[in-house]
Amino acid sequence: MTAGGRTWFAVQLVLFIAMLTALGRRPGALGTFGAKGVFGGRPMGPFGAKRVEFVAHNGPVPKDYFDERIAKSYEAKWPEIFEPAVVDAAVSFLAGLAGSGAALELGVGTGRIALPLSQRGVRVHGIELSPAMVAEMRTKPGADAIGVTIGDFATTRVEGSFELAYLVRNTITNLTTQDEQVQCFQNVAAHLRPGGCFVVEVYIPELQRLPPGETVHAFTVTPTHLAFEEYDLATQIAFSHHYWVVDGRLETFTAPFRYVWPSELDLMARLAGMTLRERWSNWNREPFTSASRSHISVWQRTT
Ligand SMILES: C[S@@+](CC[C@H](N)C(=O)[O-])C[C@H]1O[C@@H](n2cnc3c(N)ncnc32)[C@H](O)[C@@H]1O
Repeated sequence: MTAGGRTWFAVQLVLFIAMLTALGRRPGALGTFGAKGVFGGRPMGPFGAKRVEFVAHNGPVPKDYFDERIAKSYEAKWPEIFEPAVVDAAVSFLAGLAGSGAALELGVGTGRIALPLSQRGVRVHGIELSPAMVAEMRTKPGADAIGVTIGDFATTRVEGSFELAYLVRNTITNLTTQDEQVQCFQNVAAHLRPGGCFVVEVYIPELQRLPPGETVHAFTVTPTHLAFEEYDLATQIAFSHHYWVVDGRLETFTAPFRYVWPSELDLMARLAGMTLRERWSNWNREPFTSASRSHISVWQRTT
């Protein structure tokens, strides 16, 4: 960032903090997100009539940060990921790998990718922690074609064998321990048929952008949305802090994410019996280089 840019950014930050103070902790305007309840029940087949299922978990249930408020405003808060060019490129990439087989989306959310992929003729099943995100998907055309199992994608099993599993939009980092991320790869391998592929889209940790001694990096700066990554190198956790101005009110979102390097993901894949098949810097298959800020990696189940 230039000196001018830094000054502008500092002014914006001060204004936001002043707004934060002025607004106080008004319900709906500010705050963190409550823990999710524990689900019970048993999983069902991926494409069966019952569309939302609740499953038991082996360990602690991860915290659900995607509550009703975020679910209802997901597209408005992150419009850039709904751009047709972004969605179409991802869907074409995934449809090519799925072929005539079925696809499993981990963290299916509001169906941003699952719905258009299903409309391309791919059978899609989703695993999702947040009932609110699934409820939002259910308001959209074509949602009936998508089965969803409510649960933690690190451990939740669904019936069926899949040609493709995918985890997009940095969602692997929602698992905040190495053990959970390893479990996720193992869970995916258990769902893939031999030769099936696992696709992950995730950012490259932006540590090169941190000046020595600094821990906070601004990654979105617009007049209505500021977002910062706060890195804790000792625990490999980055807290994302978002501040939006919506209709003159301040809304916030803060959550921890475990950032992870491509090489660590390759090792997780190997532990789960998968090997790297492709790595690109984006959905249009542009080369992955030292300057890439994110990657699309494809591992193939080899055992
Ligand atoms: C960034 S959103 C991405 C949603 C969707 N894949 C997309 O591309 O728009 C992450 C989603 O993953 C879900 N999620 C996070 N951790 C999860 C977990 N451990 N198990 C299942 N779903 C999880 C969240 O509830 C949320 O819907």
